[in-house]
Amino acid sequence: MTYGLLKGKRGLIFGALNEKSIAWKVAERACEEGAQLVLTNTPVSIRLGSIDKLAAKLGAIVIPADATKVEDLTALVQQGVEHLGGQLDFVLHSIGMSPNVRKGRTYDDLDYAYLQQTLDISAISFHKLLQVCRKLDAISSWGSVVALSYVAAQRTLYGYNDMADAKAMLESIARSFGYIYGREKKIRINTVSQSPTLTTAGSGIMGFDNLVDFADRMSPLGNANAADCANYIITLFSDLTRKVTMQNLFHDGGYASMGMSFRAMKVYNEGLEYRDVKEDKTKQQRRTEDAGEKS
Ligand SMILES: NC(=O)c1ccc[n+]([C@@H]2O[C@H](COP(=O)([O-])OP(=O)(O)OC[C@H]3O[C@@H](n4cnc5c(N)ncnc54)[C@H](O)[C@@H]3O)[C@@H](O)[C@H]2O)c1
Repeated sequence: MTYGLLKGKRGLIFGALNEKSIAWKVAERACEEGAQLVLTNTPVSIRLGSIDKLAAKLGAIVIPADATKVEDLTALVQQGVEHLGGQLDFVLHSIGMSPNVRKGRTYDDLDYAYLQQTLDISAISFHKLLQVCRKLDAISSWGSVVALSYVAAQRTLYGYNDMADAKAMLESIARSFGYIYGREKKIRINTVSQSPTLTTAGSGIMGFDNLVDFADRMSPLGNANAADCANYIITLFSDLTRKVTMQNLFHDGGYASMGMSFRAMKVYNEGLEYRDVKEDKTKQQRRTEDAGEKS
């Protein structure tokens, strides 16, 4: 179902790597709602992924940019505004990557050069993007900027590693810049904290399949998928949410407000009983062995 929520609006979307990407679904929905788009990703991701296919389908152009490089962002925003024929009405930052996660370095054995890259790619790039846009006056009044976050910014989820620190910083940037940009230009900046989602970035997290299952059992509404996320983000780009800014908005089926659900508890208990049985067997075996040694 379409509502024409973004009719006549111009948008810039970062992070569509392939069909699984959250940004891919957002781009599709934004076009359905009447927006005109510029898509971007790094030159490597453009080569290895399928963003050109998406651009052809949506009648959009792709401008390569590494979001950690201010000169790339400057050229991207200038060319994007020129191509679209006016200021941007919305921007999606859907970027995340941790070399520590990729190389299997645990949180108590981080490589600090990798940590710098994690923070630069996944959080500081958001500040760079906002600063470039503001200096070029590239976003229209009442425009909307959204970045994607995860609940590990607030709660420890083992395996999410240094990405948790990056997401905490990302959410803080949304608040700090949201004040400046809101006061001056009435521009909204929010983060959407999404359920674990089966994408290329998501699958890099240790024990990801189990995490998806656990989150699904914990959430009263179940996990939100990438298409659900796109629908929510469209509302944030629309004029229906003009007074929402500086927020971290949970889009996770209720997960972030849960302590323990009946479904998750049941599976946990069954798992414990299974282990108890195994432990009992081991104890029994040990007793038999001890008895054998004594006799
Ligand atoms: N998948 C999940 O479980 C999940 C959950 C919550 C939040 N998120 C967040 O959603 C966002 C999108 O991730 P996704 O799950 O769609 O995975 P994805 O792998 O499809 O997208 C990540 C994107 O980041 C891009 N990227 C990496 N380095 C970049 C750089 N230097 N400059 C520009 N782009 C760069 C990649 O090319 C890729 O397109 C990320 O911020 C991620 O942390 C994902």
